[in-house]
Amino acid sequence: MTKKVKVAVVGVGRVGISHIEGVLKSPDLLELAGVVELNKALADSVAKKYNTIAYYSLTKALTSNVDAFIVCLPHHLHYPVGKQVLEAGKHVLIEKPLGINLEEVESLNLIAQQNNVIVMSAQSRRYFKAIQQAREYLPVIDGPTNLLYNFACIFTRDSAPPWWREESKSGGLVLGMLGSHSIDMTLWMNEGKKPVRVYCETRNITEVFEGDDAATVVITFDDGTIATNYLSICNAPIKHECLIEGKKGSIFFEHVGDHEGVVGAASTNVYINGERIETDDEPDCFTNQVRELASSIIEARQPLTSGSNVYNTYVLIEAAKESAKSHIAIDINEFIKLRN
Ligand SMILES: NC(=O)c1ccc[n+]([C@@H]2O[C@H](COP(=O)([O-])OP(=O)(O)OC[C@H]3O[C@@H](n4cnc5c(N)ncnc54)[C@H](O)[C@@H]3O)[C@@H](O)[C@H]2O)c1
Repeated sequence: MTKKVKVAVVGVGRVGISHIEGVLKSPDLLELAGVVELNKALADSVAKKYNTIAYYSLTKALTSNVDAFIVCLPHHLHYPVGKQVLEAGKHVLIEKPLGINLEEVESLNLIAQQNNVIVMSAQSRRYFKAIQQAREYLPVIDGPTNLLYNFACIFTRDSAPPWWREESKSGGLVLGMLGSHSIDMTLWMNEGKKPVRVYCETRNITEVFEGDDAATVVITFDDGTIATNYLSICNAPIKHECLIEGKKGSIFFEHVGDHEGVVGAASTNVYINGERIETDDEPDCFTNQVRELASSIIEARQPLTSGSNVYNTYVLIEAAKESAKSHIAIDINEFIKLRN
Protein backbone atom coordinates (compact mmCIF):
# COMPACT_ATOMS: atom_id res chain seq x y z
CA MET A 1 0.00 0.00 0.00
CA THR A 2 1.67 3.24 -1.11
CA LYS A 3 -1.30 5.61 -1.18
CA LYS A 4 -2.18 7.91 1.71
CA VAL A 5 -4.20 6.38 4.52
CA LYS A 6 -7.77 7.68 4.57
CA VAL A 7 -9.00 8.10 8.13
CA ALA A 8 -12.27 9.08 9.76
CA VAL A 9 -12.56 10.25 13.37
CA VAL A 10 -15.45 8.79 15.36
CA GLY A 11 -16.59 11.15 18.12
CA VAL A 12 -15.45 14.76 17.73
CA GLY A 13 -15.84 16.01 21.30
CA ARG A 14 -12.74 17.03 23.25
CA VAL A 15 -10.00 14.69 22.07
CA GLY A 16 -11.39 13.92 18.60
CA ILE A 17 -10.23 17.38 17.52
CA SER A 18 -6.65 16.68 18.71
CA HIS A 19 -6.58 13.64 16.39
CA ILE A 20 -8.04 15.62 13.46
CA GLU A 21 -5.33 18.27 13.90
CA GLY A 22 -2.70 15.49 13.94
CA VAL A 23 -4.06 14.07 10.69
CA LEU A 24 -4.03 17.47 9.02
CA LYS A 25 -0.42 18.05 10.09
CA SER A 26 0.55 14.84 8.24
CA PRO A 27 -0.55 15.37 4.61
CA ASP A 28 2.33 13.17 3.40
CA LEU A 29 0.79 10.09 5.07
CA LEU A 30 -2.85 10.78 5.87
CA GLU A 31 -6.05 12.18 4.48
CA LEU A 32 -9.06 13.16 6.61
CA ALA A 33 -11.95 11.29 4.97
CA GLY A 34 -14.75 12.17 7.37
CA VAL A 35 -16.05 12.56 10.90
CA VAL A 36 -18.62 10.29 12.51
CA GLU A 37 -20.60 11.98 15.28
CA LEU A 38 -24.05 11.34 16.81
CA ASN A 39 -24.56 15.01 17.58
CA LYS A 40 -25.56 16.23 14.10
CA ALA A 41 -24.94 19.93 14.75
CA LEU A 42 -21.45 19.15 16.04
CA ALA A 43 -20.77 16.76 13.14
CA ASP A 44 -21.78 19.42 10.62
CA SER A 45 -19.78 22.24 12.20
CA VAL A 46 -16.61 20.14 12.57
CA ALA A 47 -16.97 18.74 9.02
CA LYS A 48 -17.40 22.27 7.68
CA LYS A 49 -14.43 23.63 9.62
CA TYR A 50 -12.14 20.82 8.44
CA ASN A 51 -13.64 20.55 4.94
CA THR A 52 -14.62 16.89 5.25
CA ILE A 53 -17.70 14.63 5.19
CA ALA A 54 -20.06 14.40 8.20
CA TYR A 55 -21.46 10.95 8.94
CA TYR A 56 -24.10 10.59 11.63
CA SER A 57 -23.75 6.81 11.82
CA LEU A 58 -20.80 4.44 11.75
CA THR A 59 -22.63 1.92 9.56
CA LYS A 60 -22.79 4.43 6.71
CA ALA A 61 -19.15 5.45 7.13
CA LEU A 62 -18.05 1.82 7.06
CA THR A 63 -19.37 1.46 3.50
CA SER A 64 -17.12 4.32 2.30
CA ASN A 65 -13.49 3.97 1.15
CA VAL A 66 -12.08 4.91 4.57
CA ASP A 67 -9.05 2.73 5.50
CA ALA A 68 -8.91 3.40 9.25
CA PHE A 69 -11.09 4.83 12.01
CA ILE A 70 -9.97 6.71 15.12
CA VAL A 71 -12.41 6.03 17.97
CA CYS A 72 -12.74 8.93 20.44
CA LEU A 73 -15.86 7.90 22.34
CA PRO A 74 -17.00 7.34 25.93
CA HIS A 75 -15.20 4.31 27.39
CA HIS A 76 -18.11 1.84 27.20
CA LEU A 77 -18.35 2.37 23.42
CA HIS A 78 -14.71 1.57 22.63
CA TYR A 79 -15.37 -2.15 22.43
CA PRO A 80 -18.62 -2.32 20.40
CA VAL A 81 -17.48 0.36 17.95
CA GLY A 82 -13.93 -1.04 17.69
CA LYS A 83 -15.36 -4.51 17.05
CA GLN A 84 -17.68 -3.24 14.32
CA VAL A 85 -14.79 -1.46 12.57
CA LEU A 86 -12.48 -4.49 12.74
CA GLU A 87 -15.18 -6.86 11.52
CA ALA A 88 -15.67 -4.58 8.52
CA GLY A 89 -12.00 -5.23 7.69
CA LYS A 90 -10.82 -1.69 8.58
CA HIS A 91 -7.94 -0.66 10.86
CA VAL A 92 -8.72 1.09 14.13
CA LEU A 93 -6.95 3.38 16.60
CA ILE A 94 -8.96 3.38 19.83
CA GLU A 95 -8.61 6.00 22.57
CA LYS A 96 -7.54 4.72 25.96
CA PRO A 97 -8.62 2.60 27.74
CA LEU A 98 -8.62 0.06 24.90
CA GLY A 99 -11.52 -1.70 26.65
CA ILE A 100 -13.32 -1.26 29.95
CA ASN A 101 -12.17 -4.71 31.03
CA LEU A 102 -9.57 -7.28 30.00
CA GLU A 103 -12.09 -9.47 28.14
CA GLU A 104 -12.82 -6.58 25.78
CA VAL A 105 -9.10 -6.03 25.12
CA GLU A 106 -8.55 -9.76 24.46
CA SER A 107 -11.56 -9.90 22.16
CA LEU A 108 -10.43 -6.86 20.12
CA ASN A 109 -6.96 -8.39 19.70
CA LEU A 110 -8.47 -11.66 18.51
CA ILE A 111 -10.89 -10.01 16.05
CA ALA A 112 -8.05 -7.85 14.63
CA GLN A 113 -5.92 -10.95 14.11
CA GLN A 114 -8.77 -12.88 12.47
CA ASN A 115 -9.48 -10.01 10.07
CA ASN A 116 -5.81 -9.26 9.40
CA VAL A 117 -6.16 -5.60 10.39
CA ILE A 118 -4.54 -3.37 13.03
CA VAL A 119 -5.97 -2.53 16.42
CA MET A 120 -3.91 0.21 18.06
CA SER A 121 -4.38 1.75 21.50
CA ALA A 122 -4.06 5.53 21.80
CA GLN A 123 -1.40 5.54 24.53
CA SER A 124 -0.63 9.12 23.56
CA ARG A 125 1.95 9.65 26.34
CA ARG A 126 4.36 7.31 24.57
CA TYR A 127 4.26 9.60 21.53
CA PHE A 128 5.58 12.70 23.33
CA LYS A 129 8.95 13.36 21.68
CA ALA A 130 10.32 14.76 24.95
CA ILE A 131 9.37 11.58 26.83
CA GLN A 132 10.92 9.42 24.10
CA GLN A 133 14.10 11.51 24.51
CA ALA A 134 13.97 11.20 28.33
CA ARG A 135 13.63 7.41 28.01
CA GLU A 136 16.94 7.24 26.14
CA TYR A 137 18.67 8.21 29.42
CA LEU A 138 17.52 5.06 31.26
CA PRO A 139 20.85 3.23 30.63
CA VAL A 140 22.76 6.36 31.79
CA ILE A 141 21.01 6.37 35.19
CA ASP A 142 21.07 2.53 35.35
CA GLY A 143 17.38 2.43 36.10
CA PRO A 144 14.60 2.44 36.91
CA THR A 145 14.98 1.09 40.42
CA ASN A 146 12.08 3.17 41.72
CA LEU A 147 9.47 5.23 39.86
CA LEU A 148 6.78 7.70 40.90
CA TYR A 149 4.10 8.76 38.42
CA ASN A 150 2.00 11.61 39.72
CA PHE A 151 -1.08 12.48 37.66
CA ALA A 152 -3.36 14.79 39.58
CA CYS A 153 -5.90 16.91 37.76
CA ILE A 154 -9.33 18.33 38.44
CA PHE A 155 -12.67 17.75 36.73
CA THR A 156 -16.03 18.83 38.09
CA ARG A 157 -19.69 18.37 37.13
CA ASP A 158 -19.30 21.29 34.72
CA SER A 159 -15.92 20.51 33.17
CA ALA A 160 -16.19 16.71 32.75
CA PRO A 161 -18.21 15.22 29.86
CA PRO A 162 -21.56 13.94 31.30
CA TRP A 163 -20.73 10.24 30.68
CA TRP A 164 -17.95 10.45 33.32
CA ARG A 165 -20.69 10.47 35.99
CA GLU A 166 -21.92 6.94 35.23
CA GLU A 167 -19.77 4.01 36.27
CA SER A 168 -21.22 1.84 33.48
CA LYS A 169 -19.92 4.35 30.92
CA SER A 170 -16.58 5.28 32.49
CA GLY A 171 -15.82 1.68 33.48
CA GLY A 172 -13.82 2.45 36.63
CA LEU A 173 -13.23 6.15 36.32
CA VAL A 174 -9.75 6.97 37.58
CA LEU A 175 -8.03 3.69 36.64
CA GLY A 176 -9.41 3.71 33.09
CA MET A 177 -9.05 7.44 32.57
CA LEU A 178 -5.61 8.12 34.11
CA GLY A 179 -4.33 4.66 35.08
CA SER A 180 -4.35 3.65 31.42
CA HIS A 181 -1.70 6.36 30.86
CA SER A 182 0.33 5.94 34.05
CA ILE A 183 0.45 2.14 34.14
CA ASP A 184 1.31 2.01 30.44
CA MET A 185 4.12 4.53 30.97
CA THR A 186 5.35 2.59 34.03
CA LEU A 187 5.56 -0.62 31.98
CA TRP A 188 7.18 1.12 29.02
CA MET A 189 9.87 2.63 31.24
CA ASN A 190 10.47 -0.86 32.67
CA GLU A 191 10.39 -2.69 29.32
CA GLY A 192 11.90 -6.18 29.57
CA LYS A 193 10.95 -6.64 33.24
CA LYS A 194 8.00 -8.65 34.46
CA PRO A 195 5.47 -7.07 36.81
CA VAL A 196 5.00 -9.57 39.64
CA ARG A 197 2.63 -7.85 42.07
CA VAL A 198 0.15 -5.00 42.15
CA TYR A 199 -1.51 -3.35 45.13
CA CYS A 200 -4.14 -0.65 44.70
CA GLU A 201 -6.42 1.48 46.85
CA THR A 202 -9.10 3.69 45.30
CA ARG A 203 -11.71 6.04 46.67
CA ASN A 204 -14.53 8.29 45.60
CA ILE A 205 -14.17 11.89 46.72
CA THR A 206 -16.26 13.92 44.25
CA GLU A 207 -19.80 12.64 44.70
CA VAL A 208 -20.90 13.73 41.23
CA PHE A 209 -18.96 10.75 39.82
CA GLU A 210 -20.18 7.19 40.55
CA GLY A 211 -16.74 5.77 39.87
CA ASP A 212 -13.64 6.24 41.98
CA ASP A 213 -11.75 9.45 41.34
CA ALA A 214 -8.56 8.86 43.35
CA ALA A 215 -6.16 5.92 43.44
CA THR A 216 -2.70 4.81 44.46
CA VAL A 217 -1.23 1.85 42.60
CA VAL A 218 2.00 0.11 43.64
CA ILE A 219 3.61 -2.25 41.11
CA THR A 220 6.59 -4.49 41.93
CA PHE A 221 8.79 -5.93 39.15
CA ASP A 222 10.79 -9.17 39.04
CA ASP A 223 14.10 -7.31 39.61
CA GLY A 224 12.71 -5.59 42.73
CA THR A 225 11.88 -2.27 41.03
CA ILE A 226 8.96 -0.50 42.72
CA ALA A 227 6.63 1.87 40.88
CA THR A 228 3.96 4.04 42.47
CA ASN A 229 1.18 5.73 40.51
CA TYR A 230 -0.63 8.54 42.32
CA LEU A 231 -3.83 9.34 40.44
CA SER A 232 -6.50 11.92 41.10
CA ILE A 233 -9.17 13.77 39.17
CA CYS A 234 -10.17 15.94 42.09
CA ASN A 235 -6.94 17.79 42.75
CA ALA A 236 -5.85 21.33 41.83
CA PRO A 237 -3.48 22.67 40.69
CA ILE A 238 -2.78 20.09 38.00
CA LYS A 239 0.42 18.08 38.45
CA HIS A 240 1.51 15.64 35.79
CA GLU A 241 5.03 14.41 36.33
CA CYS A 242 7.25 11.36 36.66
CA LEU A 243 10.36 10.75 38.76
CA ILE A 244 12.53 7.80 37.78
CA GLU A 245 15.42 6.82 40.01
CA GLY A 246 18.28 4.56 38.98
CA LYS A 247 21.50 3.34 40.58
CA LYS A 248 23.44 6.15 38.87
CA GLY A 249 21.02 9.06 38.86
CA SER A 250 17.50 10.22 38.13
CA ILE A 251 15.20 11.34 35.34
CA PHE A 252 12.33 13.73 36.01
CA PHE A 253 9.78 14.98 33.52
CA GLU A 254 6.81 17.25 33.96
CA HIS A 255 4.06 18.44 31.69
CA VAL A 256 3.58 22.17 32.01
CA GLY A 257 0.44 23.66 30.48
CA ASP A 258 -1.25 23.28 27.14
CA HIS A 259 0.63 22.69 23.95
CA GLU A 260 -0.97 25.18 21.55
CA GLY A 261 -4.38 24.37 23.06
CA VAL A 262 -4.35 20.72 21.88
CA VAL A 263 -6.40 18.66 24.41
CA GLY A 264 -4.14 15.93 25.83
CA ALA A 265 -0.90 17.45 24.58
CA ALA A 266 1.35 19.58 26.80
CA SER A 267 4.72 21.22 26.87
CA THR A 268 7.20 18.97 28.64
CA ASN A 269 10.33 19.69 30.68
CA VAL A 270 12.89 16.94 31.19
CA TYR A 271 15.62 16.91 33.87
CA ILE A 272 18.52 14.44 34.13
CA ASN A 273 20.13 14.46 37.59
CA GLY A 274 18.39 17.77 38.27
CA GLU A 275 19.73 19.48 35.12
CA ARG A 276 17.15 20.51 32.51
CA ILE A 277 18.01 19.11 29.08
CA GLU A 278 16.97 20.35 25.63
CA THR A 279 14.05 18.36 24.20
CA ASP A 280 11.66 18.71 21.27
CA ASP A 281 7.94 19.40 21.61
CA GLU A 282 7.28 19.11 17.87
CA PRO A 283 5.46 17.35 16.44
CA ASP A 284 2.91 16.99 19.26
CA CYS A 285 1.99 13.53 20.56
CA PHE A 286 -1.25 13.25 18.55
CA THR A 287 0.57 13.96 15.30
CA ASN A 288 3.25 11.39 16.14
CA GLN A 289 0.56 8.89 17.10
CA VAL A 290 -1.48 9.15 13.87
CA ARG A 291 1.75 9.03 11.87
CA GLU A 292 2.57 5.74 13.59
CA LEU A 293 -0.91 4.44 12.72
CA ALA A 294 -0.45 5.38 9.05
CA SER A 295 3.14 4.09 8.81
CA SER A 296 2.22 0.75 10.35
CA ILE A 297 -0.65 0.33 7.86
CA ILE A 298 1.53 1.29 4.88
CA GLU A 299 4.45 -0.89 6.03
CA ALA A 300 2.11 -3.79 7.00
CA ARG A 301 3.61 -4.03 10.50
CA GLN A 302 2.30 -3.72 14.03
CA PRO A 303 2.38 -0.20 15.56
CA LEU A 304 4.33 0.68 18.74
CA THR A 305 1.16 0.56 20.84
CA SER A 306 -0.63 -2.32 19.12
CA GLY A 307 -3.38 -4.09 21.06
CA SER A 308 -0.98 -6.92 21.86
CA ASN A 309 1.84 -4.56 22.92
CA VAL A 310 -0.42 -2.85 25.48
CA TYR A 311 -1.99 -6.09 26.72
CA ASN A 312 -0.02 -6.07 30.01
CA THR A 313 -1.21 -2.52 30.76
CA TYR A 314 -4.75 -3.83 30.78
CA VAL A 315 -3.81 -6.95 32.77
CA LEU A 316 -2.42 -4.62 35.45
CA ILE A 317 -5.49 -2.35 35.40
CA GLU A 318 -7.71 -5.39 35.87
CA ALA A 319 -5.49 -6.69 38.69
CA ALA A 320 -5.45 -3.22 40.28
CA LYS A 321 -9.27 -3.16 40.25
CA GLU A 322 -9.29 -6.57 41.92
CA SER A 323 -6.81 -5.36 44.56
CA ALA A 324 -8.87 -2.23 45.22
CA LYS A 325 -11.88 -4.47 45.92
CA SER A 326 -10.09 -7.01 48.12
CA HIS A 327 -7.45 -4.69 49.70
CA ILE A 328 -4.96 -7.47 49.00
CA ALA A 329 -1.88 -7.34 46.77
CA ILE A 330 -2.44 -9.36 43.59
CA ASP A 331 0.19 -11.84 42.39
CA ILE A 332 0.22 -11.30 38.62
CA ASN A 333 1.25 -14.88 37.71
CA GLU A 334 -1.55 -16.30 39.85
CA PHE A 335 -3.98 -13.73 38.46
CA ILE A 336 -3.19 -14.76 34.87
CA LYS A 337 -3.33 -18.49 35.75
CA LEU A 338 -6.76 -18.12 37.38
CA ARG A 339 -8.12 -16.32 34.32
CA ASN A 340 -6.97 -19.03 31.88
N1 LIG B 1 -5.10 10.84 25.27
C1 LIG B 1 -5.56 11.89 25.93
O1 LIG B 1 -4.80 12.71 26.39
C2 LIG B 1 -7.04 12.05 26.09
C3 LIG B 1 -7.58 13.29 26.46
C4 LIG B 1 -8.97 13.39 26.59
C5 LIG B 1 -9.78 12.29 26.37
N2 LIG B 1 -9.21 11.08 26.04
C6 LIG B 1 -10.05 9.89 25.78
O2 LIG B 1 -10.79 10.14 24.60
C7 LIG B 1 -12.07 9.51 24.67
C8 LIG B 1 -13.17 10.54 24.45
O3 LIG B 1 -13.09 11.52 25.47
P1 LIG B 1 -13.60 13.01 25.23
O4 LIG B 1 -13.18 13.76 26.42
O5 LIG B 1 -13.20 13.49 23.88
O6 LIG B 1 -15.19 12.77 25.26
P2 LIG B 1 -16.34 13.74 24.75
O7 LIG B 1 -17.55 13.39 25.51
O8 LIG B 1 -15.85 15.16 24.74
O9 LIG B 1 -16.53 13.32 23.20
C9 LIG B 1 -17.18 12.16 22.81
C10 LIG B 1 -17.98 12.46 21.56
O10 LIG B 1 -18.54 11.24 21.06
C11 LIG B 1 -19.85 11.50 20.58
N3 LIG B 1 -20.57 10.22 20.55
C12 LIG B 1 -21.10 9.53 21.58
N4 LIG B 1 -21.60 8.35 21.14
C13 LIG B 1 -21.36 8.28 19.82
C14 LIG B 1 -21.58 7.29 18.82
N5 LIG B 1 -22.15 6.13 19.10
N6 LIG B 1 -21.17 7.56 17.55
C15 LIG B 1 -20.58 8.74 17.23
N7 LIG B 1 -20.34 9.71 18.14
C16 LIG B 1 -20.71 9.48 19.42
C17 LIG B 1 -20.41 12.52 21.55
O11 LIG B 1 -21.50 13.23 20.98
C18 LIG B 1 -19.18 13.39 21.81
O12 LIG B 1 -19.12 14.48 20.90
C19 LIG B 1 -12.10 8.83 26.04
O13 LIG B 1 -11.68 7.51 25.87
C20 LIG B 1 -11.07 9.59 26.86
O14 LIG B 1 -10.51 8.82 27.91
C21 LIG B 1 -7.86 10.97 25.87
